[in-house]
Amino acid sequence: MTYTARLRVWRGDTGGGALTDYEVEVNEGEVVLDILHRLQATQTPDLAVRWNCKAGKCGSCSAEINGRPRLLCMTRMSVFEPGETLTVTPMRTFPVIRDLVADVSFNYAKAREIPSFTPPPDLGPGEYRMKQADVGRSQEFRKCIECYLCQNTCHVVRDHEENKPAFAGPRYLMRVAELEMHPLDIADRVADVQDEHGLGLCNITKCCTDVCPEGIKITDNALIPMKERVADQRYDPLVWLGRTITRR
Ligand code: SF4
Ligand code: F3S
Ligand code: FES
Repeated sequence: MTYTARLRVWRGDTGGGALTDYEVEVNEGEVVLDILHRLQATQTPDLAVRWNCKAGKCGSCSAEINGRPRLLCMTRMSVFEPGETLTVTPMRTFPVIRDLVADVSFNYAKAREIPSFTPPPDLGPGEYRMKQADVGRSQEFRKCIECYLCQNTCHVVRDHEENKPAFAGPRYLMRVAELEMHPLDIADRVADVQDEHGLGLCNITKCCTDVCPEGIKITDNALIPMKERVADQRYDPLVWLGRTITRR
């Protein structure tokens, strides 16, 4: 079925902008990114929209459709009514660069704050084999395509610029969990995740999990287990005593 869709697209740049109305042809099987490309090709050659793979794997085309964070290339037009007006806006949590393109460098800065994988210094290459159970635990987290939809959605930073310095966001709290669950990593991730990366600000609303296009159970499998490890370490009197003595 071919029909004409009504789109409202945010157009603007760092100086401000507004929603602009368009009408664009839609064909059977198309996704929202196809419609934006047709809009670019036929009416607005200067429309800025970031994309790369058109297969849900590069994480570039993140935006908001009717206020819901989504990948533009993985959202079929058939999920909307043909008469519905689609409002397409850039991710709200990050500064806009132009039109639908947001500046996601906040996320790169947070990635750099996490100390890298730290194996024991005396361990040589090939001297250790991981159990499948240990591999499996972190494999889910490695499906992340770094689309930052979870970072964009989390209410801790979505309308709270002031929380950004203290909060790594779900994607990077999950990265800490991945390293913490690695049997060879010897860094003290548990203290850092609470004090340096802001795990305490997460109140497990699970909005991050709801929008993850990879279906990663961010809250249940990464954030809650990290909170449990913090609680065990901080509030177990024996662990607390041991840590206090070894710090002296
Ligand atoms: Fe995107 Fe999911 Fe990775 Fe978050 S965890 S950046 S939502 S793929
Ligand atoms: Fe934010 Fe996800 Fe926690 S949405 S509050 S990081 S569960
Ligand atoms: Fe690569 Fe959408 S274009 S995820």
